[in-house]
Amino acid sequence: MILKNFDKLIGSAIEAREQAYAPYSAYKVGAALLCTDGTVYQGCNVENAAYGNTICAERVAILKAVFDGKRDFSAIAIVGGKDEICSFAFPCGACRQVMSEFCTQDFKIVLFDGENEEIHTLGEIFPYSFKSDSMK
Ligand code: THU
Repeated sequence: MILKNFDKLIGSAIEAREQAYAPYSAYKVGAALLCTDGTVYQGCNVENAAYGNTICAERVAILKAVFDGKRDFSAIAIVGGKDEICSFAFPCGACRQVMSEFCTQDFKIVLFDGENEEIHTLGEIFPYSFKSDSMK
């Protein structure tokens, strides 16, 4: 039943995916980041002719939120696929590292493949991370 709680967040990620700029891979991703204060930030992937400059949907959502002064997040919903939303779009390594900057290990990663949803935690998918206290 806990799954139902994320239906709205998944809907927001599906809506965000409509903004994806993905002329090179045609793989469109949408993300919706839930702040602990209840606000939601949407993101989509933004590709570039120099492929390595592409920015993932998750990081767009997180950076928008941080710019607005938000630092406390509880979950992110992610959807991806070419024509249709298809397989579970797990966040890439760079996005996991960025999540680890702001999020605790119980931060929820909500995935939807068009049919089913799956919930993981950041601790599960990124158990070790480079943090500022690694610099001490
Ligand atoms: N992408 C994301 O936006 N998020 C992910 O978690 C994985 C990949 C994007 C990057 C690129 O525009 C496209 O998906 C194909 O890799």
